[in-house]
Formats: sequence, C-alpha cells, structure tokens
Amino acid sequence: MIVVPVALPGRPYDVVIGRGARHELASVIGGLPGVRQAAVVTQSAVLAGGWLEDLDTKVPFEIHQLGEGEGAKSLDSVETLCAQFARSGLSRSDVVVAVGGGVVTDVAGFAAATYHRGMRYVNVATTLLGQVDAAIGGKTGVNIAEGKNLVGAFWQPSAVLCDTETLGSLPPREWRCGRGEMAKYAFLGPGKPDASLLELDIDEQVARCAAIKAAIVAADETEEGGRMVLNYGHTLGHALEAEGFDASSGRDLAHGEAVAIGLVFAALLARRLGRIDDERVELHRRVVAGFDLTSDLPAGTEPDRVVASMGRDKKARHDLTFVLDGPNGVEPVSGVGESDVVATLAEMGSPQ
Ligand SMILES: NC(=O)c1ccc[n+]([C@@H]2O[C@H](COP(=O)([O-])OP(=O)(O)OC[C@H]3O[C@@H](n4cnc5c(N)ncnc54)[C@H](O)[C@@H]3O)[C@@H](O)[C@H]2O)c1
Ligand SMILES: [Zn+2]
Repeated sequence: MIVVPVALPGRPYDVVIGRGARHELASVIGGLPGVRQAAVVTQSAVLAGGWLEDLDTKVPFEIHQLGEGEGAKSLDSVETLCAQFARSGLSRSDVVVAVGGGVVTDVAGFAAATYHRGMRYVNVATTLLGQVDAAIGGKTGVNIAEGKNLVGAFWQPSAVLCDTETLGSLPPREWRCGRGEMAKYAFLGPGKPDASLLELDIDEQVARCAAIKAAIVAADETEEGGRMVLNYGHTLGHALEAEGFDASSGRDLAHGEAVAIGLVFAALLARRLGRIDDERVELHRRVVAGFDLTSDLPAGTEPDRVVASMGRDKKARHDLTFVLDGPNGVEPVSGVGESDVVATLAEMGSPQ
C-alpha cells in the first residue's frame, strides 16, 4: 500500500492506495474511539461489483443505497440518509463509511457533516475520479436546481482508502472521467505538463495525483486562496455540466469530460488575455488528448446560457473569476470580461 498523508493542522489523515485497500477499513475503524456501529453508504454498481461482499468494518453495519448520478446529489438524498441513520440508532460517536465514487462520497460526507452536527466518516473510493480527487480534501455537498454543489460543508474524513482493485469493474467512460481530473493535475504538479503519468502502475498514478491534491488541501483547507487552483478547467466545466444535466438533451456530459474541455477553454482564454503563448495552448491540447479526452464543445452548446451559468457558479465570487495559466503558473484571475469569455467560446468552434 502507498500512504499519502494529508497534513491538515489539527486533523491529519492518510490516503491509503493499493489493491485491496478496502480491507484496511477494519483497522481504520478500530482506531476510532467509541465506534459501535457503522452506516455504509453506496450505490448499486458498487454492490454489483461485489466490493462489499467481503467488507469488514469491525463493527455491525447497515447498507444504505443512493440513486444514480448528479440527481442523487440532492438534499432529498441527505434527508433520506439521515432518517435511515436515525432509525438504525446511529449515534454521534459512530461512523459513516462511503463506498463509491464522487457522488457517494460527496453525499455521505455531507450527511456525516450534518447528522448530529457532525460525525466521523471514512471514504472508500471506488472510481478513478474519486481516488484522485473527490474522496480527498473534505469538500462535501449536494446540488440544488440553482447550481451544482451549492449546498455543502468542509468536513474532513478520518481516512481515505483508494482500492485500485475495485477499478476492475469500472466502465470505460468512468475511466475517462478520472483522466479528466488527472489531466488537470498535469498542470498543477511539479515538472512539465504531459500525459506520461499514464505509463506508471495504476497505484502510482493515483498516488501521484493524491499527493498533489493533499498538498494543496493541507495548505488551504477552506479554499481561501491556493486551493482554488483545483478548480482549473472547472468554471466552464461546471457550466457545461449544468447544461447537460438532462441526458435526453443528448448532452449528458460527465464531470471529468467537462473538465477536460474546460482546460483547453482556460488555455485559450489565458492566451486571449495575454497570459500564455500559442505553444502553451498547444500543450494543453496535447495533454488533454494524451489523456484520451476530447476538447470539443458538445454540440448544441449555447454560449449565452453557458456564460449565465458561469456567473451563478459559486466559485465566481463577484465577477467572472477563472483559474488561468500564466507566467506564474496556474492561479485565480478575477475580473475577466464577459466579452472575452464569449469570444473564447466562439474560438472553440461553432457547435451545432
Ligand atoms: N468533493 C470533491 O472535492 C469533488 C472533486 C471532484 C468531483 N467531485 C464530484 O464527484 C462526482 C463525480 O464522481 P465520479 O466521477 O466518481 O462519478 P459517480 O460517483 O457518479 O460514479 C460513476 C458511476 O460509477 C459507479 N461505480 C462506482 N464505483 C464503481 C466500480 N468500482 N465499478 C463499477 N461501477 C462503479 C457509480 O455507481 C456510478 O454509477 C461529481 O458529482 C463531482 O461534483 C467532488
Ligand atoms: Zn472536478
């Protein structure tokens, strides 16, 4: 197992990465004082993969199943979970165990943050995206109609177990989603951005990304500054996702896919603002393609709606704020003009 510490002042925890990391759960829970029972939150695909069959939590547990997709990241889900927790007599000193991807860890983490005003939880991440990103760092939350992740809390897990064996049942599209966040890390980590990470053993790939995220989170837990770089590619990404919520529209863009498009958009916007040159834009395209992702805007994207959606994104505080590459590397840039955003969207092509 590879252990990546998240050195948060006052509440450090470990990210444990490797085949079978889920079997560390008993010892993790054994190390938490006062736990008498656990609530395991998961989804049907994780159960179907058989990943809970040999789960040992050391204490008795009940399984709670969430629905699928962004729709399950709702206050309704949190209410249902909390009601189930209450009915099973879960107390403040017990533990929630989230076994799944980002949807499960975001919702279960938020339920843990609020049930009894906050209880401990452990993430067992079973998607690539969850392992390299969502399960680490304590951002929990749900969507409301007005925006993605608008309701949530910073609430750190007691440990994160990234079991790379569970990736064995992950569908190809979910691998691609994880690679969207990995492409982001290529621009946030040390060294020249490229896709060579993919040549490493999967445990090492996850560990490298987890280490980048852990360092950024440890330096700025509540996103006062430095942590904002983790939103690289996300301002457009979230807006596209918001437009794609309805799968019947034919634009059911998944998170990591949207981020990949957002990375190339951010590079083009940075060039327009004179922050980077053509070569650096090309590098973005190459890295995104190297992670086997497209940077094309989805057909039917309406620039006006996308810009309006960006304004609602909680990360764009008072004006349009983007995380952009530049001479000092990737950093938040506020006060970006709407006309530059619209022009950059136009530059990306005219989707049908
Ligand atoms: N909190 C954070 O810091 C943070 C960071 C990045 C993303 N996110 C959030 O994460 C979510 C996306 O997470 P995701 O990409 O993991 O998607 P997801 O959680 O929706 O999982 C994708 C699908 O894979 C299934 N699945 C999970 N593990 C599996 C396995 N081992 N085998 C087969 N199927 C499996 C799930 O049941 C689901 O159907 C978004 O809501 C995003 O906002 C949060
Ligand atoms: Zn993301």
